This record gives sequence, structure tokens and C-alpha cells, in this order.
Amino acid sequence: MLRQTLRPGHAAHWCRQMSVVAKSLKYTQHGEPQDVLKLVEDQLADPKDKQVLVRILAAPINPADINTIQGKYPVKPKFPAVAGNEFVGEVICVGENVKGLQAGEHVIPLATGLGTWTTYGLYNQDQLMTVPKKVGLAEAATVTVNPCTAYRMLKDFVKLSPGDTVIQNGANSAVGQAVHQLCRAWGINSIGIVRDRPEICELKQLLECLGATAVLTEAEVRTSDIFKTGKVKRPKLAFNCVGGKSATEVSRHLDDCGVMVTYGGMSREPVTVATGPLIFKDIAFRGFWMTRWSKENYDAPERKQMFKELFELMEQGKFVAPTHEMVPLEKFKHAAAEALNFKGFTGKKFILNMRE
Ligand SMILES: NC(=O)c1ccc[n+]([C@@H]2O[C@H](COP(=O)([O-])OP(=O)(O)OC[C@H]3O[C@@H](n4cnc5c(N)ncnc54)[C@H](OP(=O)(O)O)[C@@H]3O)[C@@H](O)[C@H]2O)c1
Repeated sequence: MLRQTLRPGHAAHWCRQMSVVAKSLKYTQHGEPQDVLKLVEDQLADPKDKQVLVRILAAPINPADINTIQGKYPVKPKFPAVAGNEFVGEVICVGENVKGLQAGEHVIPLATGLGTWTTYGLYNQDQLMTVPKKVGLAEAATVTVNPCTAYRMLKDFVKLSPGDTVIQNGANSAVGQAVHQLCRAWGINSIGIVRDRPEICELKQLLECLGATAVLTEAEVRTSDIFKTGKVKRPKLAFNCVGGKSATEVSRHLDDCGVMVTYGGMSREPVTVATGPLIFKDIAFRGFWMTRWSKENYDAPERKQMFKELFELMEQGKFVAPTHEMVPLEKFKHAAAEALNFKGFTGKKFILNMRE
């Protein structure tokens, strides 16, 4: 409950006598999200000094959030912990020493592990970043993890020029969708590999609309002559979020001295490397973790530049959020269980909608 609010854009940035009750998804032990997450209410203190009170508008459910709750992720929160890592929120009011941030502005987290599946949060100003209001809520809520991962993997491993090619498995994942859109913006060919399914034609169409040059099933890529005919250059860079045979198959298509970057292991199988391409093509295998990069580059100009470019593309409508469904906070059990559904195919990302 809010006893006193500031109007959006209000010039004064000090606030008193705020009394805000936050509804948060908290856990006190590791386990399956539907078992350990509890919706609890806490009264938040007024923001002091450099603190900012944020009303969370939307927060996505990513595989890493589920793995963190399960205790299967390298990040171990202190209990009791609020789940979630990403959000877009609106500044409600700020502490007396906050500069350059006003009530009504939209913000996203710069820091990781803040706990975001909540209706209100109290954060330090240096943990937040302003987002232009023209950026859509779903785009802003999901920008810090998957689009940034796609951006860094395209920039930091191999020098790519327009006309070069990138290949990836899990090409319909949120990261995969971001890769297609950035490749389109930068003139790079984007070849996507997906698991076959009854709706494969619709899926191919969707990914091609996002910028994929071609989308092939795991079976199709084995027999495809797309690179042999020279229609598309052999890939210099491959992204793997699956592991197992899928990763081996994707790596076979790399050009000489190509690089495969592994950023996820959705099949839970190890990455196996084919000996021939490793020796005769001198291909390299690397790993990438956005959390590490963000910590090591917290204030780096490269980070500011990355967000600037992503926001510009979003404002121009050239970069959209992954296929998603907004769900009310109260429906978190269903959404969390669906988010890591190993039995079926991942259709969409769930975004908790705190405005309902
Ligand atoms: N290293 C990093 O910094 C970083 C950053 C972001 C994400 N990630 C990781 O990247 C992966 C994708 O994340 P996301 O948010 O983009 O996921 P997402 O949107 O939920 O998509 C999941 C993807 O994994 C595929 N998949 C699921 N189970 C599979 C299986 N058993 N075998 C093969 N493919 C399977 C899905 O394909 P189907 O449609 O065929 O199910 C889909 O393409 C996750 O492992 C996540 O933790 C890592």
C-alpha cells in the first residue's frame, strides 16, 4: 500500500512517509520453484541516502533463475532470497543523495542477483540504469541477460564483417532470437538449428521474420549443402546452448579457425568435440557467462555502448522481445514449471506482470 506517492516526473526527489508493502516470491531453501517459492509481504523502509524505491512493472523467468532456485547455478543467494534477476520498473521516489534519477523514470538492474520477482524493490542508485520510455516493457524487462549475451558473443570472440556467417543451435531460444535480430541489423548471415516439431514451418517462419537467413532442423543440417554450394559462407562463429550431439554437429560446419562459444547446456549433456575438425580445421571452443562479463565490466564504456545500441534498435522497432506471455505474479507456479519443461518444446518466455 502506498500512503504517499510522487507524480511521475516530479522535480523533488526526496520522499518521506512512504509506506510500501512489497509482495515478493521468496525462498529459504533450494528446491523446485513450485515447492519452495512463497508469496510473502514485507513493509519496505523509506529510501535513504542513495537508495531508490522502484515499483517493478515486469520481470522475466529465465532458465538461470530456475537453476538458482534449484541450487544448480554457480550463484548462491543468501536466504531468505527474493528470486529473479531482471526487471523493468518505475522509480517511485529516491533518497536524499540520489542525483540524476527522478520519480516516473523507467529503470533496469545493472547489478545481478538483486531479487526481482517482487512488486517493489529498494535498490542503490548504482545498481540501476535508466531506460528510454520508448523502449517497450517486455523489451526492457528482458534486455540485460539474453540480448546482452547475444551482443557480447557476436562482438568478443571473432571479428565479423557484413556477409560473414554465424550458426547456432537452440536458435529459437531467447538468446537465439536476439542473435538473429542483431545479425540482421549488422548484415551477418544467421543460420539457426532447432529441434524438429509438429509446428516446424511456423517456427521457421517466425525466426526468418526476426532475421534468420535459414532455419534447419537437426536432421536437415546433417544433409544440407547450404555451405557447400557457397550460397552462404561457412560460419566463422558458432553458438551452443544445447551440448551433446547437437553441439558436435554444429561445430562440424565451422570454417577453418572458427570458434564455438558454449553459453548453455539445455540437454544436460557434455560438449563432445569431433577430433577431425579440431585438428585439421584448428577450431576453438570457448565459454561465455554474461554474469562474469557484467561484473568485470560494470562501468566499462563497452557496457554503456552495448545498452545504447540495443535501446536504439528497440526504439526503432528493429529488435523485439522474445516470444513471451505476461502472467500475473500469483500464477508463478505454473509459469516457473513451464519455463524449464524438459518434456516438451519451449514455446515462449514467461514474464511476470506486476501491474495486475
Ligand atoms: N552463459 C550466459 O551468460 C547465458 C546467458 C543467457 C542464457 N544462458 C543459457 O542459455 C540457454 C538458453 O536460455 P534462454 O533464456 O534463451 O532460454 P529459452 O528462451 O527458455 O529457450 C530454451 C532453449 O533451449 C532449447 N532446449 C530446451 N531443452 C532442450 C533439450 N533437452 N535439448 C535441446 N534443446 C533444448 C529450447 O528448444 P526447444 O524449443 O526445442 O525446446 C530453446 O531453444 C539456457 O541454458 C540459459 O541458462 C546463458
